[in-house]
Amino acid sequence: MEILELMIKRPAAYIEQVTLTPEDGRGRYARTAERYVLNAFLPVVYDLIDHMSLQVGSGAIAIADLGCSMSPNTITNMESIIKRLSERYRANPGRDSEGSEEVPEFQAFFNELQGHDFNTLFQLINISKTTAAEQGDGEAVQYFASAVTGSFYDRVLPSSSVHLVMSSLALHWISKIPTAVLDSNSPAYNGGHTDLHRSSRATLDAYAEQAEKDLVDFLSARAAELVTGGSMFLVFGARDHYIPYRVVDESFEAHETVWNELAQEGEVAEDLRDSFNPLTYYRSFSEVDKVLHAFRSVFEVVTKTLFRNLISICLQGESDVKKRAHMCASITRGMYSNILESHFGERVTSLFMHRLQQHLLERIKSNNIYADRAHQGCFLSLVLRRK
Ligand SMILES: C[S@@+](CC[C@H](N)C(=O)[O-])C[C@H]1O[C@@H](n2cnc3c(N)ncnc32)[C@H](O)[C@@H]1O
Repeated sequence: MEILELMIKRPAAYIEQVTLTPEDGRGRYARTAERYVLNAFLPVVYDLIDHMSLQVGSGAIAIADLGCSMSPNTITNMESIIKRLSERYRANPGRDSEGSEEVPEFQAFFNELQGHDFNTLFQLINISKTTAAEQGDGEAVQYFASAVTGSFYDRVLPSSSVHLVMSSLALHWISKIPTAVLDSNSPAYNGGHTDLHRSSRATLDAYAEQAEKDLVDFLSARAAELVTGGSMFLVFGARDHYIPYRVVDESFEAHETVWNELAQEGEVAEDLRDSFNPLTYYRSFSEVDKVLHAFRSVFEVVTKTLFRNLISICLQGESDVKKRAHMCASITRGMYSNILESHFGERVTSLFMHRLQQHLLERIKSNNIYADRAHQGCFLSLVLRRK
């Protein structure tokens, strides 16, 4: 199947929506950038909903967000889907299985790994409902929310229980770092590298093997959980080519340089640096296709859409290079602080972030990154239908 490629334009107002105060540095900018990225995907989700069968049986319509995180974006994603579905039912009275003119009830499953802060998520749901009520929105989105803990690489829901699954920006998180990558006697050992850009072929192969197993496990679990005719929207980081390894944002390539500098200066022990490896892997298209082919009797691939430049275009239009470097470092801080702190500790992580920002500033000044050109890394979205 051909991949539809969308080059998304940055809305002019985008940069102005972002507040760059220090206290926001840790999460707010990253969330805002993520929201912008997520908005780019919504038309694909709406298209899926507009073509979904409305004949869903007599119970509630069940929607699952796998790897949902705990931010206002999580709520916006779910409520946008439910709102669109409700509108379809309203526009098509008498089209459900009972011939009823009622909009059905909705059940929302929010899935995250164990240990995530579901209390915050449920507070955000309440805030969203209260805000809608205060604004007198009689048609506020109504749904029954449930938390589902556990890895989406395992079964998380009962058989044939869900009509629509979404998973955004999560499937490039693999279930574990391949053992060989941590073994200094293995050709796949990734010592000296903190990501995969300059890693050996053997390291990439080890990651690819784990990522393939994970995707197989994910699709097997969803094959069991989705009702026949149910749909799935997945979007995750991917890459054009197996080699070289290039991901969504070129700034990630600066990370390793900074870690090496800190190791040379004795700020971080070399073996601590060597034992850090990414838990993310951006599959190449051919790796994704191989797994989809294996599932061809179970899932129909309805659409494949490619989104490019989503992170770098967040920065275009901002001419102040210092602000661009700060925004870029803030995205990294929001996404990776927790992971880095648990491995390197708070002091070293903070030093890393500071140094990263300086590096990015130098690179941006010399036009080394975020030049106006297509990047090789991208987000791939798939719409799949359970046969
Ligand atoms: C970048 S966030 C994306 C959050 C949200 N879906 C969004 O689009 O804004 C990725 C989330 O996936 C979760 N995640 C990663 N691996 C997972 C797994 N195996 N099972 C469930 N959640 C997982 C992480 O905890 C993280 O919160």
